[in-house]
Amino acid sequence: MSTSVNPSPGHFTTPVLALDRASVPVTFLMCPPKLYDVTYVINPWMAGHVHDSSRVVATQQWQHLCDAVARVAEIVFVEPQPGSPDMVFTANAGLEHDGIVLLSNFFHKERQGEEQHFYRWFDEAGYTVLTVPRETPFEGEGDALFAVDGSRLWAAYGPRTQRSSHHFLSEAWKIEVVPLHLVDPRFYHLDTCFAPLEDGSVMYYPQAFDRASRERIEGYYAATKRIAVAEEDALRFACNVINIGSTVILNEISRELRTELIARGFHVVEVALSEFLKAGGAAKCLVMRLGGSAQQTTH
Ligand code: ARG
Repeated sequence: MSTSVNPSPGHFTTPVLALDRASVPVTFLMCPPKLYDVTYVINPWMAGHVHDSSRVVATQQWQHLCDAVARVAEIVFVEPQPGSPDMVFTANAGLEHDGIVLLSNFFHKERQGEEQHFYRWFDEAGYTVLTVPRETPFEGEGDALFAVDGSRLWAAYGPRTQRSSHHFLSEAWKIEVVPLHLVDPRFYHLDTCFAPLEDGSVMYYPQAFDRASRERIEGYYAATKRIAVAEEDALRFACNVINIGSTVILNEISRELRTELIARGFHVVEVALSEFLKAGGAAKCLVMRLGGSAQQTTH
């Protein structure tokens, strides 16, 4: 049984193992941008960018991201499918933990065609795949992020994921779900404005949340653990960060933020991702974290 689909031979190079790989391997699901394009507008970033992205540049940028991730983690691939140009944003495939995947149930019909492809991939890879009813939209890891100690699940609601879906999250993993209300349409997924980091800190854009949600975040993370990202960096998708150990991989950010992250002990890897910003996504949107019992079957 084939559980991972490699990108076109000779076009996307197989990631090379490097020295700083974490001792506990992390696996990410990625989708090559062979069919990536902006063909509709379902978030403010896409407006004005229909057919405005370069597939050549997008491919180079994605490959650089792939190379950066491969230095610290394993990567498995899902084959892109015609009619699903946003499939490259695998963070929206679903949410995985302990071998269970809660499959996304997209709010916009434009992305609902992806569900069957992701379902097939997870099923063939040996995951237990759970679904939620169509009337309760849920957009996967884009809108739900585990606390690094696994003690709670931060789950957004607002533009995409509906709060009524949170019940299915707590049922799937028997975990406390902490709701966060997204109120700025530019930050329409949780992973565009909030990132729990492995050192126990958090990067977030406070204005993306309503007051009660901000208080939940600030009640959990002590002031010294909070990296409040300014609007300028938030708009560069600075919070859309892939964090493995002390490495953070993200789009290009300001010197100030880079300096702060370095001072906090992070190895900062910036990858230009301009072509994906045109669709409203960056580094973290382009990967989905996998682990759990099915991990051995996905390598
Ligand atoms: N164009 C995609 C959408 O609007 C971008 C998804 C970005 N993904 C994310 N996890 N934030 O759905």
